[in-house]
Amino acid sequence: MHEGLQVNLASNVVPLRAPTPVQKPNELPTRATRYPDLRYMGSKSRLLPWIFETLNGLDFESVLDPFSGTGCVGYLFKSMDRRVIASDFMNFSSLVARATIANNKVHLDGKAIRRLIDGTPPAHNFIEQNFDGVFYTRDDLRFLDRISGNIRQLQDPYEQALAFAALFRSCLKRQPRGVFTISGDLSHYDDGRRDLRLSVEEHFLEQIEVYNNAVFDNGRRNKALRSDIFELSNERVDLVYLDPPYVPRSDDNCYTKRYHFLEGLSCYWQGLPIDKTTKVKKIAKRYTPFSYRKEAVDAFDRMFGRFAKSKIALSYSSNGFPDLEQLVELMGKHKTSVTVFEKPHRYHFGTHSKVARANVVEYLIVGQ
Ligand SMILES: C[S@@+](CC[C@H](N)C(=O)[O-])C[C@H]1O[C@@H](n2cnc3c(N)ncnc32)[C@H](O)[C@@H]1O
Repeated sequence: MHEGLQVNLASNVVPLRAPTPVQKPNELPTRATRYPDLRYMGSKSRLLPWIFETLNGLDFESVLDPFSGTGCVGYLFKSMDRRVIASDFMNFSSLVARATIANNKVHLDGKAIRRLIDGTPPAHNFIEQNFDGVFYTRDDLRFLDRISGNIRQLQDPYEQALAFAALFRSCLKRQPRGVFTISGDLSHYDDGRRDLRLSVEEHFLEQIEVYNNAVFDNGRRNKALRSDIFELSNERVDLVYLDPPYVPRSDDNCYTKRYHFLEGLSCYWQGLPIDKTTKVKKIAKRYTPFSYRKEAVDAFDRMFGRFAKSKIALSYSSNGFPDLEQLVELMGKHKTSVTVFEKPHRYHFGTHSKVARANVVEYLIVGQ
């Protein structure tokens, strides 16, 4: 442990800070490196080799990833041939996990693709009506109305999920900065990138292929759920990988604010009324205690308690709150040994032309 880190743990807890194990001969499964990553706040896609090296040494057959986000970590576990349950409280996120993690066999074949790109004018024009002048071109919006109807013509839930996953990735690529907090004339973001030149429809056709290629069978019955972490049913698993939002020291970490358009699109805004007073036509924020300093400590405590019977691996970052010392102490209330693995990490933020970088330390806090 480095100097200054005084961790007050229960007497039976061994505070260890182990170096990340040297790379094992068995490397990150190639499949995991081919996951169609999404530009997404907090995605661990660049940390997958380290997460693999660190967790591969643990003994586990089944694993829960209840903050699945892009699904890249759950997909890593699937590539390691474990039985995976992926879950997130965002519907769009759970659809991506259904397409890539729960789905072992279904692809979008020629017949399904023909249905998807059927050019019959859409029965509804909710998207064009509400988002004209906010996001995308009018043609893109008409395509989104049409595809939303066509996806629902597919019978198989995995086919639907694959089509949605392809659609979400298309929307993220086509949207400058990949977030839905900015709108209107975004031409100053246009640096000639192909992603901004292609229409959403052109992206979509490419992304179908990308997601078809991501489907594979690991011989396990994997699941994708949509749930709040505190409402998940208590299915026993060997390992729980926790990657909650980092409670920021400044700004906010609201996923609805950044990705409301994808969340609305995932259900054609059924039951998600738009707040018309907002410039970007947001939906109501989904509550999570991990957004509030006042509530986060209690939430971590309850979460560790909830999964006390499983091994726990928590991803966290040195720029989050609470700090490492407090998190180790909290986990120590529920586990007999707590080990901290760390990795210096650089992340990028800001606009495309003005990217800033920050150095942080990423932690994997493992309780057994
Ligand atoms: C840091 S991201 C996870 C990133 C993911 N591991 C990846 O690599 O893509 C946190 C995720 O937690 C979800 N989330 C936030 N609060 C939640 C809650 N109370 N219950 C379930 N999911 C929640 C967010 O929707 C977001 O996708």
